[in-house]
Amino acid sequence: MVRTGWLWLMCAVLATVDGGGAALAVDAQAAKDARAAAAPSSERMPEPTHYADWPAIESRLPADPALEARVRKMVASMSLAQKIGQMTQAEIKSITPAQVAKYHIGSVLNGGGSWPGGNKHAGIGDWLALSDRYYEASMATDAAVKVPVIWGIDAVHGDNNVFGATMFPHNIGLGAAHDPALIEAIGAATARAVRATGVEWVFAPTLAVAQNARWGRTYESFSTDGPLVRAYARAYVEGLQGRFGDHNVMATAKHFIGDGATHNGTDQGDARVSLKDMINVHGSGYFGAIEAGVQSVMASYNSWDDVAAGIDYGKMSGARALLTGALKDKMGFQGFVVSDWNAIGQLPGCTNASCPQAINAGIDMVMVPDDWQAFIANTTRQVENGDIPMARIDDAVSRIVRAKLRMGLFGKRPSQRVGAGDAGSLQSRELARRAVRESLVLLKNNHGALPLKPGSKILVVGKSADSLSNQTGGWSLTWQGTGNGNADFPHGETILAGLRKADGAANVTYSETAQGVDLKSFDAIVAVIGETPYAETMGDIMPSATLRHSDRHPEDLAVLQTVAKGRKPVVTVFVAGRPLYVNDLLNLSDAFVAAWLPGTEGEGVADVVFARHSGAGSYNFSGTLAMPWPGVPCPDASGSGIKAARWLFAPGYGLRYPSKHAIGTLPTDPAVDACAEASVLSVFHTLAVPPFSLYLADADPEHPAHDIGSDLNAVIEWPASHPVLRLRTVQVNTQQDAKSVTWLGAGRFFARSPQPRNLAPLVSTHAALQFDVVIATPAKGPVKVYMGCGQHCTRSVDLTHTFATYANGDRHTVSIPLDCFIKGGADLSHVDVPFGVLASPPFSAAFADVKIVAGAPAGRADLTCASLGAP
Ligand code: BGC
Ligand code: BGC
Repeated sequence: MVRTGWLWLMCAVLATVDGGGAALAVDAQAAKDARAAAAPSSERMPEPTHYADWPAIESRLPADPALEARVRKMVASMSLAQKIGQMTQAEIKSITPAQVAKYHIGSVLNGGGSWPGGNKHAGIGDWLALSDRYYEASMATDAAVKVPVIWGIDAVHGDNNVFGATMFPHNIGLGAAHDPALIEAIGAATARAVRATGVEWVFAPTLAVAQNARWGRTYESFSTDGPLVRAYARAYVEGLQGRFGDHNVMATAKHFIGDGATHNGTDQGDARVSLKDMINVHGSGYFGAIEAGVQSVMASYNSWDDVAAGIDYGKMSGARALLTGALKDKMGFQGFVVSDWNAIGQLPGCTNASCPQAINAGIDMVMVPDDWQAFIANTTRQVENGDIPMARIDDAVSRIVRAKLRMGLFGKRPSQRVGAGDAGSLQSRELARRAVRESLVLLKNNHGALPLKPGSKILVVGKSADSLSNQTGGWSLTWQGTGNGNADFPHGETILAGLRKADGAANVTYSETAQGVDLKSFDAIVAVIGETPYAETMGDIMPSATLRHSDRHPEDLAVLQTVAKGRKPVVTVFVAGRPLYVNDLLNLSDAFVAAWLPGTEGEGVADVVFARHSGAGSYNFSGTLAMPWPGVPCPDASGSGIKAARWLFAPGYGLRYPSKHAIGTLPTDPAVDACAEASVLSVFHTLAVPPFSLYLADADPEHPAHDIGSDLNAVIEWPASHPVLRLRTVQVNTQQDAKSVTWLGAGRFFARSPQPRNLAPLVSTHAALQFDVVIATPAKGPVKVYMGCGQHCTRSVDLTHTFATYANGDRHTVSIPLDCFIKGGADLSHVDVPFGVLASPPFSAAFADVKIVAGAPAGRADLTCASLGAP
């Protein structure tokens, strides 16, 4: 694709940089105009919409009276047990084929990091065999009407749970390509791969229009721009679903609605936008997906509070006005709505296994990974006693059966379908490599540092050069994308391997840190740096933390500082799931490429940075930003999107060869080490929030402590020889968000930062230390919660009595006024341990969401200092 918009944009950036002003933003409208003018008309993006209410959307699927008659007839002869079974989706770890038959289960899924036989390296034959077993079981029931089970998978950048499959760039990179035809091809290739394994349904595409890069799922979003998401939604669904043949899969438009709109970018948080924005910005993708005939929609974990209109819709899986009113009735969606992983349990009055509200609101299939048996029993009772109307059940089941009929699942077991077991379908390397080329955005290229000359002597540095794990990011073999080495991607190619091929292996030297390397002997240095893998909530950047990449990854700044001493051109390839504040890194680089999370085909990077020859000349950059790039460490003061005045590069920005454009030295704001606007200091939110880490230690405060690290699968017994504490990851609010700690001896579980923090100013705002707790084994001895303020400065409050009043298994939010620690003599100007628990056996409890909250509403501070034994 040829674009001319970049020239205009370059000048705008240059002008503002040269002016030395703080306002570095490029005018967004001008950027859009330039892009629209440059794009051939067939590729023009849809116009932004201005609906005042949810519009009726016309689907490309024609009305099909014969199909409808068949659906009616089938549903009419199904028993209640069979209907409720159809509405149930269980995880493969928790359900056997025999149980699928017995309970008439409608669907199974494998979550991220779940594979046949629990084997990460399961082969295509293992997937297909298990799929056959579930399918045959579903057709071997005693029911009059037999309805095949459908298997769903998170194939969100290729068939990414499957060993050996090609992984495409994550959505944020695809957004930068601005190429709907590419997206359709990727959808079709993904569908083939998934069907080859016997799986028929994918939980993709994600249509979030992400507004705040703090969100840990930003990389799953194509763009902050509604029209682009709409065009992509349409293309992606058409690619996946095609004409419902054996090479197609059912698509899921997710997560409905407002997942990209949450306040502070908090995962599963609260969207605070107007109806107009919810429809015209966050609804955009659904217009495209419904136009293309998408057969399923996943309800989102987030809630929506339309503050301006005074309407609080609550969590989306219980929002009837949206699932039924907007999506089905007004927009005319004919497929079925599936809830997200245990999402029903988040509705008031519900558990993971019981939630008539969600079904009444319009959820048709419930993703109830583990507690499906209790869910079936409860739902049956709720229908029998009238809590759920039979008409609602019939509607839900009709929608599910209609989709299965459309998909052509009846009649042939998975291994009998065309393309089943074809290992070649897992590979789409050329397409993925093209996607990588198109996704790259050149942010800086002073004095023509790029392209590199083939045959030149190159030093490659940085932790992500030789790491397929960093390149593929979250949702890659495992849920978090962690725990993978290069050998886990047998057909993948690292960025380093691609550079070696393009330049000649003998010309390329790799040193991760560049320590001790003689920089003089090279013509240029390529630094491949960036984020390490994460998924969902684990990727959130808390409101109190800056968006400065070097705060979270100082090793990347360090390696650039090391190579800068060589006075050779430095080309940085930034492998990251979102735009971050990188002014310090830009200043140390002559050229800077945003490579997003490119997936398995690292050679696409070499194609462009070496401007290798292609059929049509030589490769050039063509990607442009689909999200604004921040120019300050705290760009989102309002908690919503990144304000234009705080952008460094506007959407639409991206350079090409040849480029005479230069970017001057940018301000680096070293004084800003936290985002002051924040009223919450997070300590532990699914993971320890930097600068804090979590530790285990014995009861003696002088003894060394053990850092628990970030492996969610680890069960830690510490110390290994005579364990005092046992720690593992469990769920309290959302998946794997809590640490369960069992005291086997007297010991401490605590959070600590290397530098003390001044919490004193918070005290005047009635701040509190707040956390969620579930008691598993009540204590017999004392339990103390403490804060530490350096050596010999520890002040505790006594929670023994409070915890004793908590029933086992129930979640409680504990809120301890900071005052109580002061009364105990703590110096709150030097807090290095904001949270610690000291106890002895027997005691076992799970802790989640630990934070210091300023101005905690009085009602939440349920504990008084007197009740906590503080003077
Ligand atoms: C995610 C969904 C995903 C589902 C199944 C949830 O946690 O929010 O996007 O499809 O799990 O793995
Ligand atoms: C993910 C699953 C994952 C699970 C772990 C879900 O949100 O989608 O894929 O295995 O959480 O609890």
